[in-house]
Amino acid sequence: SSTEYIQYHGILLPLQAHSKESLEYAENFSVKDTDVFAVTYPKSGTIWMQEILPLVLNGGDLTPIQTIPNWDRVPWLEEKRLAMVVDQLASPRALVTHFPYRLMPPSFHTSKAKVIYVMRNPKDVIVSSYFFHQMAEFLEDPGTFDEFMDKFLEGRVLFGKWTDHVKGWRDTELGDRIMYITYEEMAKDLPAAVRRFSDFLGRNLSEEVIQKIAEHCSFKTMKTNKMSNFSLVPKEYMNPDKSPFLRKGVAGDWENHFSSEQLARFTSAIRKEMESASFSLPWSME
Ligand code: A3P
Repeated sequence: SSTEYIQYHGILLPLQAHSKESLEYAENFSVKDTDVFAVTYPKSGTIWMQEILPLVLNGGDLTPIQTIPNWDRVPWLEEKRLAMVVDQLASPRALVTHFPYRLMPPSFHTSKAKVIYVMRNPKDVIVSSYFFHQMAEFLEDPGTFDEFMDKFLEGRVLFGKWTDHVKGWRDTELGDRIMYITYEEMAKDLPAAVRRFSDFLGRNLSEEVIQKIAEHCSFKTMKTNKMSNFSLVPKEYMNPDKSPFLRKGVAGDWENHFSSEQLARFTSAIRKEMESASFSLPWSME
């Protein structure tokens, strides 16, 4: 059916977006020293980074975000589309990936490519993912929120367990090639986040350009940009009538969706998984 998944090195992936060929392509991909990756667990701000990165790298030229759909402008390393657009990517290249660290290709490790890892409060990630499963016709129906919570906590969802993803990307040998930021920091002060990206990528953008980038990457502006809001995708693939891709764009929406029983179940499972982590989460998991 159109909601089929494949098992790939212990994680589930939807066949509509990934194939054996696209995954082989990713495994053999030649990462360049100048490449920049935004890495996220799904629903943590990927599309947001697809908007911000080209502008930081090109000094605020709006042309790409106004003329190229986000999936071709900053493609996913692991998706089918990459092979088709790879030769048209702006230089330096910006890419996104949801891959766990352990699945990054060999050339990534030997390169000097930089990584921005965006982490989001898992309580909001699961809510965002729940709505995404309703609108993404290539994903299995999520069932009730309660049922979906079981799947999420057990890692029976796209790209596996949230906790495995964040732990894997924390304990790397990337040194100063990787920077960490949270969705919540970006939501609180986007110009400050853009300034951090600019510094990390050695761009030295002026205050004026930083403000301009932040303005064009606001939730409101992105929601009306058809190159960024997925409205160019056929409805059989993503149906915005069910739930828009750019849905709420806030931190803390989980409070509107968790029962107290669900909160207890969710936080205790996350706390347990985080016992083996080398860092603590910046959000309360009580
Ligand atoms: P919500 O469903 O909570 O609204 P991803 O791109 O990784 O799939 O993440 C999608 C989530 O990021 C959605 O969260 C979406 O609304 C949010 N998002 C995208 N662009 C944003 C922006 N400019 N500002 C705030 N949130 C944004």
